[in-house]
Amino acid sequence: MKKSIFIIFTIIIFLSLPTPSLSQRCNKNDEKVLFQIKKSFGNPYILASWQKNVDCCEWYSIECHPKTGRIISLDISTGNISGQIPRQVGDLPYLKSLTFHKLPNLTGGIPLEITKLTHLIFLRLDWNNLSGPVPSFLSQLTNLDFLDLAFNSFTGSIPPELGALTLVTGIRLDRNNLTGPIPESFGKLTNLQYLYLSHNQLTGDIPRSLGHLINLTWIDLSRNQLTGDLSTFFGTNKMIQVADFSRNSLKFNLSKVELPASLIFFDLNHNKIYGSLPATLRGLSLQHLNVSYNRLCGKIPQGGDLQRKDDVKTKEPCREIQREEKTGRTHRRHMEHKWRLSTPRRWEGTKKYSVAIA
Ligand SMILES: *[C@@H]1O[C@H](CO)[C@@H](O)[C@H](O)[C@H]1NC(C)=O
Ligand SMILES: *[C@@H]1O[C@H](CO)[C@@H](O)[C@H](O)[C@H]1NC(C)=O
Ligand SMILES: *[C@@H]1O[C@H](CO)[C@@H](O)[C@H](O)[C@H]1NC(C)=O
Ligand SMILES: *[C@@H]1O[C@H](CO)[C@@H](O)[C@H](O)[C@H]1NC(C)=O
Ligand SMILES: *[C@@H]1O[C@H](CO)[C@@H](O)[C@H](O)[C@H]1NC(C)=O
Ligand SMILES: *[C@@H]1O[C@H](CO)[C@@H](O)[C@H](O)[C@H]1NC(C)=O
Ligand SMILES: *[C@@H]1O[C@H](CO)[C@@H](O)[C@H](O)[C@H]1NC(C)=O
Repeated sequence: MKKSIFIIFTIIIFLSLPTPSLSQRCNKNDEKVLFQIKKSFGNPYILASWQKNVDCCEWYSIECHPKTGRIISLDISTGNISGQIPRQVGDLPYLKSLTFHKLPNLTGGIPLEITKLTHLIFLRLDWNNLSGPVPSFLSQLTNLDFLDLAFNSFTGSIPPELGALTLVTGIRLDRNNLTGPIPESFGKLTNLQYLYLSHNQLTGDIPRSLGHLINLTWIDLSRNQLTGDLSTFFGTNKMIQVADFSRNSLKFNLSKVELPASLIFFDLNHNKIYGSLPATLRGLSLQHLNVSYNRLCGKIPQGGDLQRKDDVKTKEPCREIQREEKTGRTHRRHMEHKWRLSTPRRWEGTKKYSVAIA
């Protein structure tokens, strides 16, 4: 009893020690670099707290290592920053996390100097107005866990070199103007869990190598011009929860595709997919299924969450629909109407539970 009171007492004394002794002062080189960065942005209002008389570890958007005092994180988000990503960010050698987010006047490309940040784990440059290519030199950041360049104006193709980022668990390149194919080398990203490439102008076949990514849980390749075949992409051993391939030009027979039990969001709308709905759909707990605007036919599998509504005419034999499809647009639209099911329910608070089949 006495002993435990003593321990509690010691803890209280420890907690009431003045904090400055715990945090070392900011490193002078890091401070100098930060002043250069502030200057290169024209001393913007958002960096007003970056002042000489204040320890830089206390500045807005900065995080220092608790022991060494070196800067490990720089996160500038949502502000009136104009100009380009300063080359000097490469001179913060202990940076683990770098974020420039929602800065619409941040323009230009990604500077080569970023490759000096060999400790970088987290790189988030989304919702800016960055342009130019997705540089292949990003592959030198071999410790990267997360790479996010979404919502910018990047152009050109995705460099195959990024396949060297074998530790990466998430890649977001969605909402840019990227062209060309998805690199075959992405099949080497064995730790990948999140892949978002939607809203670009990607072309070519979806590489079969993506089927090797056994830890993939979210994949969104929607709104591109991708072609190819997903019949080997899925499989009952996968962990995929969200798969959006809508608005592409995929063309394959869906009938025998093995969908994993983990799948909760599945969107294939606006492709050229044919065959029938796979029997594995029956065992799933889907919250969203949209296969409309394809060339599917046949029965909706019974049971599970795919309850049929009365207004759905069933069991159109495949050959009949195939034949009718050739009769033109008007008739096809009629078929779509007949096959659409929709049950309102919640999908993570935003999207509706829905089943759309045409
Ligand atoms: C971006 O720059 C333009 C032109 O200087 C300015 O009008 C606009 O307010 C800036 N955007 C933001 C978010 O500050
Ligand atoms: C943003 O900064 C630019 C240039 O520094 C300036 O012209 C503009 O008025 C600023 N906009 C806002 C909303 O502060
Ligand atoms: C992005 O930059 C371009 C020019 O570089 C400009 O025309 C456009 O308005 C900018 N977009 C936004 C959202 O600020
Ligand atoms: C990106 O593509 C869109 C749509 O095609 C176009 O309106 C926009 O100008 C393009 N932006 C750039 C930076 O190329
Ligand atoms: C998949 O994830 C598990 C658990 O996070 C991990 O142990 C495993 O190494 C990963 N597999 C691959 C191929 O990276
Ligand atoms: C799709 O595959 C199924 C099962 O292998 C087969 O019965 C069907 O004829 C195929 N459909 C087309 C249009 O090739
Ligand atoms: C399915 O996708 C089509 C095409 O985008 C859309 O018009 C329809 O509303 C969607 N249906 C449901 C139930 O989500």
